[in-house]
Amino acid sequence: MTPFSIGDLLIGTATAALQIEGGDRNNNWYDWASLPGTIKDGTTPLRATDHWHRWREDTELMATLGLQVYRMGVEWSRIEPRPGEFSTEAIDHYREEISLLRARGIRPLVTLHHFTNPSWFQGIGEWTHPESVNIWLRFVRRVVTDLGDLVDEWVTLNEPNVYAVMTRLYGEFPPGHRSLPETIKVMRHMAIAHVRAYELIHEIQAHATVGLAHHLRSFDPLRVWDSPMAKINTYLFQDALVDATLGGRFARVLGGQPREVSPGKYYDYLGINYYTRSAVVGFSDRVFPNTPVNDLGWEIYPEGLTRIAQDLHDRYPGPIWITENGTADNDEAFRSRYLADHLRVISESQLPFERYYHWCFVDNFEWAEGEVPRFGIVHNDFDTQARTIKPSGHFLAQVIKDRGVTAEALAQYVVPQRYRVG
Ligand code: FCB
Repeated sequence: MTPFSIGDLLIGTATAALQIEGGDRNNNWYDWASLPGTIKDGTTPLRATDHWHRWREDTELMATLGLQVYRMGVEWSRIEPRPGEFSTEAIDHYREEISLLRARGIRPLVTLHHFTNPSWFQGIGEWTHPESVNIWLRFVRRVVTDLGDLVDEWVTLNEPNVYAVMTRLYGEFPPGHRSLPETIKVMRHMAIAHVRAYELIHEIQAHATVGLAHHLRSFDPLRVWDSPMAKINTYLFQDALVDATLGGRFARVLGGQPREVSPGKYYDYLGINYYTRSAVVGFSDRVFPNTPVNDLGWEIYPEGLTRIAQDLHDRYPGPIWITENGTADNDEAFRSRYLADHLRVISESQLPFERYYHWCFVDNFEWAEGEVPRFGIVHNDFDTQARTIKPSGHFLAQVIKDRGVTAEALAQYVVPQRYRVG
């Protein structure tokens, strides 16, 4: 294991509003989590990390670690609690938080939709509703207008592919349906929403930097004969949406070209959320035997990050922002090694990587998994809400300070750690 430099890569963490804020009862995830059996450990996002009240403390902690960038969400259900009615209080809250980030030299990147909806939007069928795109754009217009003097970097949508399949195919996210036509409708509407938001944000803020955080994974065949299915899965799960969102080109499988979208370039950076690879068997995702895995059984496969980034960049050239990358590691047994391995493949690549947002800062509410899996570089005691920096937090701070991974940091944080093999 050798030391390496990270060059000009800007490093920080990423999060989503609902996973940290707590206290919001006007949200589809609050409604969903109140139904029995929806969240594995029976928790709800009502407590999460109480960031709504602890944002000052959390921001100061980020500054202490020297984080350079921060991807955060603004919660639609707080900002537009009733259709067309906007809360100045909520907007002001985010203005204060973002102002403090900026004052501490941390550059904000703001996500406009990250898996959650106001209950009223959920009630009308959310992204299957024919007017869903226009309804969401009204919110986007408001946020970009009201925060535009403080923010000029935006993520329109988080992982439309994961959203569509989890809400409409696997039934694990609200409303828990299992319907292929609905899955496709959601994907189509969200892709149109991205393109239109890209145009709208630039209309309001000509110099804005806009993209989406696309969940991309490596799909490799488990056995040679699974190869055609690996290609089909890659296309259906991610590439058809890449073409629709980044290039404005809608394939037949997504319902064909919408009247309101012309092919074009709808990104200023390539946002990639990368976690793992799938060993494909038919339509199911398995894990390759004897590979390193995290606490949730996801393969740890750093090379996949540069493979998918290369593939995307070949088709859609542009600066690459890793908008999420991280791992569930409750015992803090391998997170620093995971970080080093993923930063190393980035540093060895010739691709234009500009940003790396580690998922996540403080351990948070992990959707259907509840509070159990810990992805943070800062430990959270959910009962007392006490934050404690983990070794991986100290390691990441050191990497930012040294602009790379030194021999000392390797010896202290990485060499003693081992992956578990699944
Ligand atoms: C991603 C989500 C994020 C978080 C991580 C672990 O798919 O965007 O909210 O749950 O997975």
